Amino acid sequence: MSSVKLQVEQITRHYGKTIVLQNLDLTIQTGELLTLLGSSGSGKTTLLQIISGLTEPTSGRLLIDGKDHTRTPVHQRDIGVVFQNYALFPHLTIEENVAFPLRMRKLPGAEVSRKTKAALDMVELGHAAQRFPRALSGGQQQRVALARCLVYQPGIILMDEPLGALDRQLRETMQMEIKRIHRESGATIIFVTHDQEEALALSDRICLMNEGRIVQIDTPQTIYQQPNSAFVASFIGLSNILKGDVRGDQLVTQQGVFALPTAMPAGRASLMIRPEDVRILKAGAAPLEGEICERIYAGSETRLVVTLADGARFIVRSRGMSGDKIGDRVSLGWDVQQSRLLLA
Ligand SMILES: Nc1ncnc2c1ncn2[C@@H]1O[C@H](COP(=O)(O)OP(=O)(O)OP(=O)(O)O)[C@@H](O)[C@H]1O
Ligand SMILES: [Mg+2]
Repeated sequence: MSSVKLQVEQITRHYGKTIVLQNLDLTIQTGELLTLLGSSGSGKTTLLQIISGLTEPTSGRLLIDGKDHTRTPVHQRDIGVVFQNYALFPHLTIEENVAFPLRMRKLPGAEVSRKTKAALDMVELGHAAQRFPRALSGGQQQRVALARCLVYQPGIILMDEPLGALDRQLRETMQMEIKRIHRESGATIIFVTHDQEEALALSDRICLMNEGRIVQIDTPQTIYQQPNSAFVASFIGLSNILKGDVRGDQLVTQQGVFALPTAMPAGRASLMIRPEDVRILKAGAAPLEGEICERIYAGSETRLVVTLADGARFIVRSRGMSGDKIGDRVSLGWDVQQSRLLLA
């Protein structure tokens, strides 16, 4: 059974005349892993700070377990925070670092030992308990920071780009760790990232932000397959976009006239086609034509870039090896039902 853990109601935050967050509404379920995704400056950290209590909103309310906590001090909120720079205490061992929040809360010694051990086991660092932070790799230190947050079992865990400093491979390993820990601990997690692949990999739902507003909240699959605007389509995954005017059941563009998957009243609109849905055809076989200008082999797929007559580019992904060569003239086709009509 799901219950609501956190409600953000009409939260707005100004800094002087600058509006950093504008009328945000967001409901998070107990046990959910929600990512806040958005480019630099979109307001992700500010929202996280308002939830944690480090910053007050200019207006709006924050409810935790149905109670108003808009003005509750940080340490009374039952919220744990993990930052990008893990901020471990260098002069304490790993075990002492993890035990720290429990000692602060004056728990009995036996309970401190038991919980510390359990938290270290959860991040698979039991063997490193007596080492100092400097003797651990970046990924291991990040796991200690995670254990230090998990150890006192906060109802909500906030993570602000916790994997930002790690290399790609370690990042992917840590993403799997976070998913596992999320499953095992049942914690409600809000995870900030500006990496769309990371958001797709981790989330139960993604909340995409732009310039202090929420533009779409949905599951990774829905946000990828049914973006609600051209902005969302271009932010999440690769996409090809044809802009034009709706006339009846067609879109009239500079590149040609294309059938629409759904009806829409006359006006400006965009047609979006994902690279994996585009087919390379013999020149002349479809209205959209161009020349292959790049060919990138990536093991499981080949990515082709096709330059259209007006200089715009189309990206095509084909499984495995493709026989097409740079300089080939080709047509591009797709199943109308695989394309998506978006407001310009
Ligand atoms: N204390 C402050 N005073 C004035 N402006 C601020 C303050 N804190 C944040 N801002 C502004 O608010 C906007 C949002 O900042 P925020 O840190 O929330 O963005 P972000 O989405 O976390 O970005 P990043 O991905 O770069 O971390 C930015 O334009 C920033 O300059
Ligand atoms: Mg930030």
